[in-house]
Amino acid sequence: MARKKIGLIGAGNIGGELANLAMTRQLGDVVLFDIPAKENFAKGKALDLEQTSALLGKDCSVTGTSKWEDLAGADVLIVTAGIPRKPGQSRDDLVATNLPIIRDVADAAKKHCPDAFVIVISNPLDAMVYEYKRRTGGSRQKIVGMAGVLDSARFSLFLAREANASIKDVRTMVLGGHGDDMVPVLSHCTVNGVPIQKLVKQEALDKIVDRTRKGGGEIVGLMGTSAYYAPAFSAIAMAEAYLLDQKRLLASAVYLEGEYGYKDLYMGVPAVIGAGGVEKILELDLNDAEKAMLKKSADSVQKVVDIVKAST
Ligand SMILES: NC(=O)c1ccc[n+]([C@@H]2O[C@H](COP(=O)([O-])OP(=O)(O)OC[C@H]3O[C@@H](n4cnc5c(N)ncnc54)[C@H](O)[C@@H]3O)[C@@H](O)[C@H]2O)c1
Repeated sequence: MARKKIGLIGAGNIGGELANLAMTRQLGDVVLFDIPAKENFAKGKALDLEQTSALLGKDCSVTGTSKWEDLAGADVLIVTAGIPRKPGQSRDDLVATNLPIIRDVADAAKKHCPDAFVIVISNPLDAMVYEYKRRTGGSRQKIVGMAGVLDSARFSLFLAREANASIKDVRTMVLGGHGDDMVPVLSHCTVNGVPIQKLVKQEALDKIVDRTRKGGGEIVGLMGTSAYYAPAFSAIAMAEAYLLDQKRLLASAVYLEGEYGYKDLYMGVPAVIGAGGVEKILELDLNDAEKAMLKKSADSVQKVVDIVKAST
């Protein structure tokens, strides 16, 4: 069987780390794509990583390009094209810059890699993945957004530290849009089946929910730009679930067709990812407070989607 082809659209901070992880984990041949003005940058990063593959003994190629032809037939596309936040900005502030970029990417990807499993990372995430699907007319099985895996990892880490528990035992799910209204679902959060409320006081839980919601901004405030190690690993977990048919249950931004009472909207929900892409969406029993938070989050996403729809 030929090696898989992994196309990474955007060779910046997340794109570079995605290439590193895809090579290290030998997911397939990696093509790192950026705009013509940054073609040499993409080529240089790719060459550096391909030389790393020699050190690690990994049989895969890593190439850089600004030509979509080089991405033809990609099995997986991970899209980070666009600008990240600067301190003080919200993800929604990026819409004017990143919308034309996501449209360009969608048009080219539709032509050159129509069969790829696509994971969008660019912000504002839920609106960008919505626009990607609208523009390409692709299926919801094959077009997802990455946010919930990352937000759940942040939530798990903060809880593990507070509960003095192993990170291996903490199970969490963060649903809704990838913004400050996201919904860390405390009612389904356990340490290997033990409800988190048995181990952590409500006051501390409230602080952790708040820190999770602002988790991306905390890093932007420290570094002056967005996180990239954990975002890249989160998307690689989704890509691996697809490529290796792992049937993993991952919080993913998925196009909703009535689930949780929402339609024609991308938002984070628990989804099974396997060889069929998004194979199943699970509907959790949320309590009334969580339902209300999800509504608030959906309303926030809808506002950005409305801006996107109005600017055709
Ligand atoms: N979904 C999430 O959880 C999450 C987490 C962190 C960051 N992000 C977002 O991911 C995006 C990328 O972040 P980053 O830190 O890698 O940014 P970055 O600036 O380091 O890299 C982005 C790259 O995209 C390239 N680009 C611009 N237009 C392009 C086009 N038309 N085609 C191909 N490439 C193009 C740029 O030249 C740049 O190299 C940002 O929008 C950021 O907000 C999302």
